[in-house]
Amino acid sequence: VSSSGSWLFCTYSVWDKLGRFTAYLAYAGSVQVGTQSGIDECKHQFAWDRWNCPDSATQLKGLRRATRETSFVHAISAAGVMYTLTRNCSLGDLDNCGCDVSNNGKIGGRGWLWGGCSDNVDFGETVSKQYVDAQETGQDSRAAVNLHNNEAGRLAVKATMKRVCRCHGMSESCSVKTCWMQLSDFRDVGNYLKNKHNQAQKLDTDKKRMRAGNSADNRGAILDALRSIAPTELIYLEDSPDYCRRNSSMGLYGTEGRECLTSCRRLCQECGLGVEEGRVEVVSSCNCKFHWCCQVNCDRCTQVVVRHTCARRDGNDDSGFRRRHRGHKS
Ligand SMILES: *[C@@H]1O[C@H](CO)[C@@H](O)[C@H](O)[C@H]1NC(C)=O
Ligand SMILES: *[C@@H]1O[C@H](CO)[C@@H](O)[C@H](O)[C@H]1NC(C)=O
Repeated sequence: VSSSGSWLFCTYSVWDKLGRFTAYLAYAGSVQVGTQSGIDECKHQFAWDRWNCPDSATQLKGLRRATRETSFVHAISAAGVMYTLTRNCSLGDLDNCGCDVSNNGKIGGRGWLWGGCSDNVDFGETVSKQYVDAQETGQDSRAAVNLHNNEAGRLAVKATMKRVCRCHGMSESCSVKTCWMQLSDFRDVGNYLKNKHNQAQKLDTDKKRMRAGNSADNRGAILDALRSIAPTELIYLEDSPDYCRRNSSMGLYGTEGRECLTSCRRLCQECGLGVEEGRVEVVSSCNCKFHWCCQVNCDRCTQVVVRHTCARRDGNDDSGFRRRHRGHKS
């Protein structure tokens, strides 16, 4: 540091921002965990679909398109962050937030009162907006669509919450009942959003206005179109590319080589590929015996399991166990 003046300036500006900065750091780790749980759920939900949530699709900043699938990625990521932060809050992981007890003691409905620890979704929602929506720096139509889908993801967390009750009174006679709102399993949020993905709507914009206008005009046209769609619904702008085919410039792997179970028709045959049956040896523990106390001894067993994969029909890699299955039922 060249002079005490600049050193002072430096410490002052750090001091000013210290509060915000430490808050930022405190949540950043949870935001990362939440984003990852969204991505993991995406991979689970799409494991047997042509598009299987590849890593190339989940780099939020790299999503230059606004397809039905990217709408899901945005929604589940925003939901994952909100969900994780809400959980953190209820578990007392964070200094400055806790359960939502604002209604406790009030009558909630016939025969029950609010009580206990309601999950503080408002807190999770606020942090998710601050971190996830902040990635959308563009002013274009895609940014507007992405923000809508982020919001739809957060609404899914709220829509899947459950009311949980406990009985009180003489020997739990339930003369008094208290209830609170609790997050569902994140799997339920994933299932809910997968359904929204199936029903996603293509945003119908005024094409003439879009073509003639500048980008501000485009955004105006998008915002008009958005007004007609419920905030809970996923929306997209562009039709999905052909997920059957590999296209490395778009980060798409195609379905060749994918394993299929009940999805062979969709993954292989409808993509012009054959279904190949292969046998693989799987080693696992078996015949385990418990010896008092406390030891478990197991044998190692090998089991041959049949796997089906999508393969090009005119390939010439038949070997050993492999057999071609044309017209294999899905
Ligand atoms: C929030 O929860 C996640 C997942 O349960 C955990 O990994 C993370 O460490 C928690 N954050 C804090 C600040 O404790
Ligand atoms: C990959 O996608 C781009 C953009 O849609 C398209 O122009 C190109 O032809 C595709 N390449 C292949 C090999 O399909």
